[in-house]
Amino acid sequence: MSFGLKELSILSAKSMKTIFEPFRIKTVEPIRLTTQEERCRLIQAVNFNLFSLHSDDIMIDLLTDSGTSAMSSNQWAAIMRGDESYAGSPSFYRFEKAVKNLMPFKHVIPTHQGRAAEAILFSLLGGPGKRIPSNTHFDTTRGNIEATGACADDLVIEAGKNPSLYHPFKGNMDIEQLEAYLATHAASVPCVMSTITNNAGGGQPVSLENIRATSKLAKKYHILFVIDGCRFAENAYFIQQREPGQRDRSIVDIVRDMFSCADAMIMSAKKDAFANIGGWLALNDDELALNSRDRLIQTEGFPTYGGLTGRDLEAIAQGLTEIVDEDYLRYRIRTNEYISEKLDELGIPVMKPAGGHAVFIDARAWLDHIPPLQYPGQSLAIALYELGGIRACEIGTVMFGRSADGTESPATLDLVRLAIPRRVYTQSHADYIVEVFEELATIKQDLPGYKIVEEQARMRHFTAKFAPIPN
Ligand code: F0G
Repeated sequence: MSFGLKELSILSAKSMKTIFEPFRIKTVEPIRLTTQEERCRLIQAVNFNLFSLHSDDIMIDLLTDSGTSAMSSNQWAAIMRGDESYAGSPSFYRFEKAVKNLMPFKHVIPTHQGRAAEAILFSLLGGPGKRIPSNTHFDTTRGNIEATGACADDLVIEAGKNPSLYHPFKGNMDIEQLEAYLATHAASVPCVMSTITNNAGGGQPVSLENIRATSKLAKKYHILFVIDGCRFAENAYFIQQREPGQRDRSIVDIVRDMFSCADAMIMSAKKDAFANIGGWLALNDDELALNSRDRLIQTEGFPTYGGLTGRDLEAIAQGLTEIVDEDYLRYRIRTNEYISEKLDELGIPVMKPAGGHAVFIDARAWLDHIPPLQYPGQSLAIALYELGGIRACEIGTVMFGRSADGTESPATLDLVRLAIPRRVYTQSHADYIVEVFEELATIKQDLPGYKIVEEQARMRHFTAKFAPIPN
């Protein structure tokens, strides 16, 4: 029936105030509401380290988008079908088919999560004297490369390092720099990587043109091109929306195109597969696949389950059919844009544009009365919890400030990441997050800096104890 009105696409109109969540809620997880007084006590009791909180003392948990997705009724139904045979489970074959449908690699090797795929791949490709470039390595990727004695290099474009500068593909590899890098180091480079989206650089996408250019350069030097595809669907959506000539293509089409440029991929199914656990390594080279499966058997399990249960493989297979849904992706990306725009209106410095899985706040710029070595990111993250029961993650001097030689210096940036779990929170939750920031803006001058009173030599952010420095 037509009312003679020009069709209005409610779901895509950016000016509409309502984000349409394309799902109904069938099962709920109650959120325990806490008071500010209670939260101040709770955070003090864990020495102001947000990782040490009990998660049922948190009202909105934005620590990570990894493994925190809400599964669909179809995923739960698929779980019942999980076949737990040690070898040759039909659940594996359904998983393999679902992966190959999107990512046309010859071999698909399941792992218990993304970093296990990294560990296997780099134990075979890495080693002392080797160098592996990427736009920006995620920290576990870097950790797994460096653990073999190899060197991990980040070659993201200049715009990717400037939080306030708009660029549609801030995750792009600097192709000129990569060319110069390969001209010098090709003999010691076993693979070139691209991380899509670029998590460590703010969840920023990589364009199809950039993926193709990276692939072409790797081919020229006969070097493997490996995609870290954790957030591939978000990346494909950004390509569809922002890259000239891509608007009329389906997400599935773009996804296949991205991966057909690569020789291998590593994946965490805890992100863009809507699973709570899982990952894989996929590749074309027969010998590398044989050796990877050898390693897999040693460390993860038989190649048809790779450290997962049959039901996990089913959840991933079904999740992969849902993640490429455009209505979902529109809701997903719009939620982040919405929060980011509202914070921007409040004068809060946010990374622009909003990332695919997270909104990043430039805490050093916003809390400019707190010097970097008094951790403005940590101060903001603590205040978000005390005031609003929101858990976010400091990505700054607490995380990166301590060098191996024991000295401390400010990280390049002091950011706070609001990582948005998939299909978990609604627009009301987004509005609540904005409201908490609005409140914070009125008292931000009073937020204290912090000092570390106890820490471990490595990965200190997980366990460090903090104390406020009185203003
Ligand atoms: N690569 C990227 C780009 C990631 O973001 C992650 C995890 C991994 C690899 C490792 O995967 O967790 O399954 O072992 N990122 C999570 C985060 C932990 O919070 O950003 P995993």
